[in-house]
Amino acid sequence: MRPAQFIALFLFAATMSLASCARPARLSHRAASPTGAGAVACAEAAATDAGLEILRSGGSAADAAVAVALALAVVHPQAGNLGGGGFAVVKNGGAVTTLDFRETAPRAATHDMFLDPDGKVIPEASLVGGLAAGVPGSPAGLFELHHRHGFLPWRAIVQPAIRLARDGFTVSQRLHDAVEWETDLLTRFPETAAVWLPEGKPPEPGTVMRLPELAATLAAYAERGPEAIMSGSAVASASRDHGGVLTTADLSDYRPVWREPLRFRAFGWEVASMRLPSSGGFILAQSLGMLEHLGWDRLPREGVDRLHLLAEVWRRAYSDRFLLGDPARMPTDVSRLLGLEWIAARAAGIDRARATPSAQVHPWSGSEAGEAAATVHLSVADGAGEMVALTSTLNGWFGCGVYVKGAGFLLNNEMDDFVVSPGRPNLFGLVQGEANSVAPEARMLSSMSPTIAWRGSESIALGSRGGSRIPTSTMQVLLDLIVDGDSLRAAVDRPRIHHQWLPDQITAERGALDDTTRAALEMRGHTIREDEEIGEVNVVRRLSGGELEAAADARGPGAAGLTNQ
Ligand code: GLY
Repeated sequence: MRPAQFIALFLFAATMSLASCARPARLSHRAASPTGAGAVACAEAAATDAGLEILRSGGSAADAAVAVALALAVVHPQAGNLGGGGFAVVKNGGAVTTLDFRETAPRAATHDMFLDPDGKVIPEASLVGGLAAGVPGSPAGLFELHHRHGFLPWRAIVQPAIRLARDGFTVSQRLHDAVEWETDLLTRFPETAAVWLPEGKPPEPGTVMRLPELAATLAAYAERGPEAIMSGSAVASASRDHGGVLTTADLSDYRPVWREPLRFRAFGWEVASMRLPSSGGFILAQSLGMLEHLGWDRLPREGVDRLHLLAEVWRRAYSDRFLLGDPARMPTDVSRLLGLEWIAARAAGIDRARATPSAQVHPWSGSEAGEAAATVHLSVADGAGEMVALTSTLNGWFGCGVYVKGAGFLLNNEMDDFVVSPGRPNLFGLVQGEANSVAPEARMLSSMSPTIAWRGSESIALGSRGGSRIPTSTMQVLLDLIVDGDSLRAAVDRPRIHHQWLPDQITAERGALDDTTRAALEMRGHTIREDEEIGEVNVVRRLSGGELEAAADARGPGAAGLTNQ
């Protein structure tokens, strides 16, 4: 163990619970007025355009991020949302903060609500229909992000989304494919099918789609803010009509939370990411800490050694994820799991020549060390130095399938991110612990990892979609940029791997491993499974001279743009 090697990794904050409820007086974090310059990367070109339009009009990065998120709720309805929730990291000059607008469990939620009287899991109950939906966080969260960091009037920010819903947008191949893929889910709910399966078929790519109910909801949101969505009875009625328990009180009482970012150093860079209830920042901090301790940056870039260590550090970090949950209900002192002592002990247990079977890797016990993935990530920078990384989700494509009649949007199925039954993997195969059990008003554990890293005047905002693969996708692009000095394009394009403790396997993108590397990993005891794609990372970067760059992941149809293009 060589402590000096990893002294660079330290946490600025001692606890995982530093938080303040939203609705403060407007605070000015703005160091300079927006300049009209900026960069946007997200999952759909029409939403990127919405962000660029706001930046050109003198909006801040936060203004543009909110406009992009709302545009995604229209043109990318399988993941973009008003009926879901998310997280955002905002950096302006030296000030970094994070906003948690994760969904909460309804007040009527109970520990065993997804079990039948015999203690068996009720099939699909946490994934399909009203019971699967948490209280949406996006309406209040996006408004709050603008309230604190916005520059232009709120109404102006919502306009691009209203226009897209009212006047129409072009159906993408991906939207067509998502509707086709989820036809069974969508046809279970007549109101949903009426919109998304007109004439019983998915909308054709290239056709223009209008969403008048959503346009009206967005217009009311532009006038009255979140109250327009959260104080009515439409969401509670939709939930009740389909077996759910959301009440008007659950909705009107929902509050996003400003939290101190999870800050650490890695490979000479400062990093700020999400605290609990997202595990994303935790996994980044712990696994980057182990890599630095192991001298990962000094290993050859190609070949088996780096890949082996990535799998081994993720195996351990995802094992500790088992202990995590809503910070308000955490029995474990999570700061210890990110302390140098535990990171060093974990790293010391890694055999450089042999995979450790996951059955032998246990979460911290207190005695040691004294793709579905209907998520969407957007990154924005403005010309005055502000950056936003924002990840938002419905959980599965089209969430729980329930369409809010009259309001034009779908509800999430985020309740499946809780532990529905001990030992049962969730939608993403994650095995989670009691700290993440269902409880009234609790926030379910997430993997979303919006992240901003900086060194001197250079800074990077990034994140991904991909459920449990979000932290590992985000981390690989970050490593390519900060350790290997890749261009944004090369970093985003580079094939990825993933490991999440259980199941005990490396998932590798097809073509990510040549035969020799694959055989070498297998020789070390790894099981390898191939998959089409891992994550979808959208990233913007400010270079030390102030120039901006943006890249959208070619694994999706996303688009990146700069205002001067
Ligand atoms: N629903 C996926 C996540 O929050 O990690």
